[in-house]
Amino acid sequence: MLRTGIVAAAMLLAASNGATAETPVERGAYLVNSIMACGNCHSPRDAGGRLISDKAFSGGLTFNTPPFIATAANITQDIETGIGSWSDAEIKRALVEGMRPDHGHLASVPLAAIMPANFYKALLPDDLDAVVAYLRTVKAIRNQVADPVYKAPVRRDPYPDADAGFNKADLANPLKRGAYLVTIGHCMECHSAWSRGVSDFRGGLGGGGRVFPPRDGSPEGTPPTIIPNITAHPTAGIGSWTDAEIVHAVTHGVARDGRPLKPPMAYGYYASLTSSDLADIVAYLRTVPALP
Ligand code: HEC
Ligand code: HEC
Repeated sequence: MLRTGIVAAAMLLAASNGATAETPVERGAYLVNSIMACGNCHSPRDAGGRLISDKAFSGGLTFNTPPFIATAANITQDIETGIGSWSDAEIKRALVEGMRPDHGHLASVPLAAIMPANFYKALLPDDLDAVVAYLRTVKAIRNQVADPVYKAPVRRDPYPDADAGFNKADLANPLKRGAYLVTIGHCMECHSAWSRGVSDFRGGLGGGGRVFPPRDGSPEGTPPTIIPNITAHPTAGIGSWTDAEIVHAVTHGVARDGRPLKPPMAYGYYASLTSSDLADIVAYLRTVPALP
C-alpha cells in the first residue's frame, strides 16, 4: 500500500516536471526515425527508391566504397538473420564501437566504417538505452543480407565533438544540444570535406564537396551528387539563408532556390524532428566556421 503510494507520488512529481511524457521506447523511436535516420541505410527501397514500409530495418543499401563492400544489416529482432539473439550490451557495442559480438556469424569482425559508430559514441547513456529499447520492438523479418567484404582494416575518422563527448547538462544549452543532434545525426559525415577516403572534420567541417555516386537503380546517366556546403559562409554555404529556409530544406528536401535535394539527404526522416530540436540544429549550424 505504502509502496504504491510512493510510486504514484513519484509519477505525479515526474508528470509535473513534464518528464513522463516520453518512455524510453518512445524516445528511441523518435531518435531512430528522425535525427538518426537508421532506416535511410537499413531499410529496403523499391525500384523507384520508395521505402518498403512493411520491411523496415530488414536490410538496406549496399555500399561499394573501397576498401569495403558492405550491406546495411538486418537490424530487426529476427533471431537468425537479424539481431534478435544479441544482448543489449552487444547491440550497444555495435552502435558505439562498431564491433560485432564474439559469437555467431562473423564473430568479432568489426563493422565497416559506413556504420557511423564514430558519431554514435556521443550518445548519452539514456539515449543509447532508448535506442536499444526501441529496436527490441521492431518486428522480426527474415532476410539474410550478403556478407561484407573488407579489403583493408576498418578505420573510422574521429569526430571531435563525439570524442569530447556530451553530458546531460549540455542538453539544456540550445547550442550544445544542436551540436549533439548534429553529431548523432552524423550530418557532417556527408557534409565535410573528404579526400582519398579520409574525412576532414577539423579544417573541412561542413564544407561539402564530397561526391556520391548515383544510387543503385537510378536511371542511366544520372550524374553523381555533390554534397553542398552547410557552413555559415554567406554565398558558398547557408549563412545568408533564413532559419525558416534552412528548416524547410532539412525537413522537406527543397533548397532555398526551389531545387529538390537529392538522396541520400534524409529529409523524410528529419521531417519528424520537433521544432525545438530543429531550432537548436540551426543555431549550431550558424556557428560552423564559414568555408569558401
Ligand atoms: C550510413 C549508413 C548507416 C546508418 C545511418 C546506420 N547504419 Fe547500421 N550499419 C550500416 C552498415 C553498412 C552495416 C554493416 C557493416 C558491415 O557489414 O560491416 C551496419 C551494421 C549495423 C549493425 C550490426 C548488425 C549486424 O548484424 O552486423 C547494427 C546493430 C546497426 N548497424 C544498427 C544501426 C542503428 C540502430 C542505426 C541508427 C541509430 C544505424 N545502424 C545507422 C550502415 C548504417
Ligand atoms: C547521408 C548523407 C547526408 C547526411 C547524413 C546529411 N545530409 Fe544534408 N545533404 C545531403 C545531400 C545529398 C544533399 C543535397 C545535394 C543536392 O541535391 O545536390 C544535402 C543537402 C542539405 C542542405 C541543403 C543545402 C544546399 O545548399 O542545398 C542542408 C541545409 C543540409 N543538407 C543539412 C543537413 C543536416 C542539418 C543534416 C543532419 C541533420 C544533414 N544534412 C545530413 C546529404 C546528407
